Amino acid sequence: MKKYIALIMFLLSLLFLITGCSEKEISNNEQEEDGLSLDLIEAISEEWKSSGHQYAVTVTAGRGINCARCHDGVGYAEQLAYADVDFLPEHQAGIDCQACHTGFGKERIDTGLAELPFMSEPFQGGSGAVCASCHNGNNNPDTLFTQSEAGELTRYSYPHYGMNSALLTGQGGMEIPGEEYLVSIAHSTIEDSCVTCHMPVTEEGYKSHTFKADLKYFDQTCGSCHVDQTEKTFNIGGLQDEIKEKLNKLEKAILDATGAVKIETGGGAFTYYDAQGNVITDIPHEAYVATYNWRLVAEDGSFGVHNPLYAKSLLEKSYNYLTGEDL
Ligand code: HEC
Ligand code: HEC
Ligand code: HEC
Ligand code: HEC
Ligand code: HEC
Repeated sequence: MKKYIALIMFLLSLLFLITGCSEKEISNNEQEEDGLSLDLIEAISEEWKSSGHQYAVTVTAGRGINCARCHDGVGYAEQLAYADVDFLPEHQAGIDCQACHTGFGKERIDTGLAELPFMSEPFQGGSGAVCASCHNGNNNPDTLFTQSEAGELTRYSYPHYGMNSALLTGQGGMEIPGEEYLVSIAHSTIEDSCVTCHMPVTEEGYKSHTFKADLKYFDQTCGSCHVDQTEKTFNIGGLQDEIKEKLNKLEKAILDATGAVKIETGGGAFTYYDAQGNVITDIPHEAYVATYNWRLVAEDGSFGVHNPLYAKSLLEKSYNYLTGEDL
C-alpha cells in the first residue's frame, strides 16, 4: 500500500514538472519575466475597482474631446490623436489601466511633465504628472479675474471639480494682482507629488491603486517629514479644522455681500439665489473672486493639506478683498 502511494506521489510530481504546476502559476512564470505576476495584477485591479476611476461618467457622453480628454479612458490616452476631430466615444470607458499606462498617460508618467491651464511652464510632478493632467480645475483664474473686473464675464464660472494641482502647486487660485501669496514649498516639491501621498507602497511592495490618501500609511507618507507627530492624523497642527472654520466665515461673508441665501453650482457656473428663490444676476466682482476661491479650497478635499500656506492665504486675502477686514 505504501509503495502504491509513493508511486502516485512520484507520478504526480512528474505531472507537475511537465505541466509547470497549476494554471495560475504558469501565467505567473510567463509574466515574471517582465517583473509582473498575476497576483500583483489581481491585487491592483481589486484596488482600482474600489476607486471612482472605475466609473464611466455618463454626463460627459456625447460632449466631445473637451470632456472625454479627462473623463474617458480612451479619450484621455489618445487625446492628441483625437484633438482635431470631434471625438464622441460610442461607449464611455472609465479611467482604466490603459488610460494611465498607454499613450498620453504613459507619456506623463515617463516625462514627469504636465501642462496645466494656470502655469506657463509645464508642472514637474514626476509620476504624479499623470494625476495633475486631469486634476487641475480646467481653468485659468487670471483670465476669469480680468474678465470679471472688466464686467465682461458671461457667466460666473467655477473651478472644475478635481482642482487639486491648482492648490498643490500654489499657482491655481484666483489671485488679486499686486498681492503676495504665501506658498508651502515642502508639499509642492515632494518627489512624484500626488503619487507619493496617494499611491504609497503596500506591505507587499507595490504601489497601491486605491488612489486614496490613506491614514494607514501615515508613517510612510507624512511621518517621514513630520517626525514629531505622534498621533496619526492628517489634521496636523489643527490645520484642517482651521481651514474649515475659515471656509464657513468666508461663505457667510459672500452671502452677506451678495444678498444670496444659497449658491448652487451646475452647468459650469455659480448661481446665486435670494430668499424668494430668484436668481441674483449682479454679483460684485469681489464677491465673485471670493466665491471662486471658497469653492476651490472646499472642493479640493484636502482642507489645506495640499498646500497649507497657500490655502490659508487664498481664503484670508479673498475675505479681506470682500469685507476690508481680517479673517
Ligand atoms: C483621465 C483623468 C484622470 C487621471 C489621469 C486621474 N484622475 Fe483621479 N479622478 C478623475 C475623475 C473623472 C474622477 C471622478 C470619478 C467619479 O467619482 O466619477 C477622479 C477621482 C479621483 C479621486 C476621488 C476619490 C475617488 O476614488 O473617487 C481621487 C482621490 C483621485 N481621483 C486621485 C487621483 C490620483 C492620485 C491620480 C494619479 C495617480 C489620478 N487621480 C489620475 C480623473 C482622473
Ligand atoms: C482637465 C480635466 C477635465 C476636463 C477637461 C473635464 N473634467 Fe469633469 N472632472 C475632472 C475631474 C478630475 C473630476 C473629478 C474630481 C473629483 O471627484 O475629485 C471631474 C468631475 C466632473 C463631474 C462630477 C462628477 C462626479 O462624479 O461627481 C462632472 C459632472 C463633470 N466633471 C463634468 C464635465 C464635463 C461636462 C466636461 C466637459 C465640458 C468636463 N467635466 C471636462 C476633470 C475634467
Ligand atoms: C502631502 C501629501 C499629498 C500630496 C502631495 C497630494 N495629496 Fe491629495 N490629499 C492628501 C491628503 C492628506 C488628503 C485628505 C484626505 C483626508 O482628509 O481624508 C488629500 C485629498 C485629496 C483629494 C480628495 C479626496 C476625496 O476623497 O475627496 C483628492 C482628489 C486628491 N487629494 C488628489 C490629489 C492630486 C491629484 C494630487 C497631485 C496634484 C495630490 N492629491 C497631492 C495628501 C496629498
Ligand atoms: C490614474 C492612473 C492609473 C491607473 C488608472 C492605473 N495605474 Fe498603475 N500606476 C500608476 C502610476 C502613477 C504608477 C507608478 C509609476 C510607475 O511605476 O509607472 C503605477 C504603477 C503600476 C504598476 C507597478 C507597481 C509597482 O509598484 O511595481 C503596475 C503593475 C500597475 N500600475 C498596474 C495597473 C493596472 C493593472 C491597472 C488597472 C487595474 C492600473 N495600473 C491602473 C497609475 C495608474
Ligand atoms: C517632504 C516632507 C513633507 C512631507 C512628506 C509631508 N509634509 Fe507636511 N509639511 C512639511 C513642512 C516642511 C511643513 C511646514 C512648512 C510649510 O508649510 O511649508 C509642513 C506643513 C504641514 C502642515 C501645516 C501645519 C504645520 O504643522 O505646519 C500640515 C497640516 C501638514 N504639513 C500635513 C501633512 C500631511 C497630512 C502629510 C502626509 C499626507 C504631509 N504633511 C507630508 C513637510 C512635509
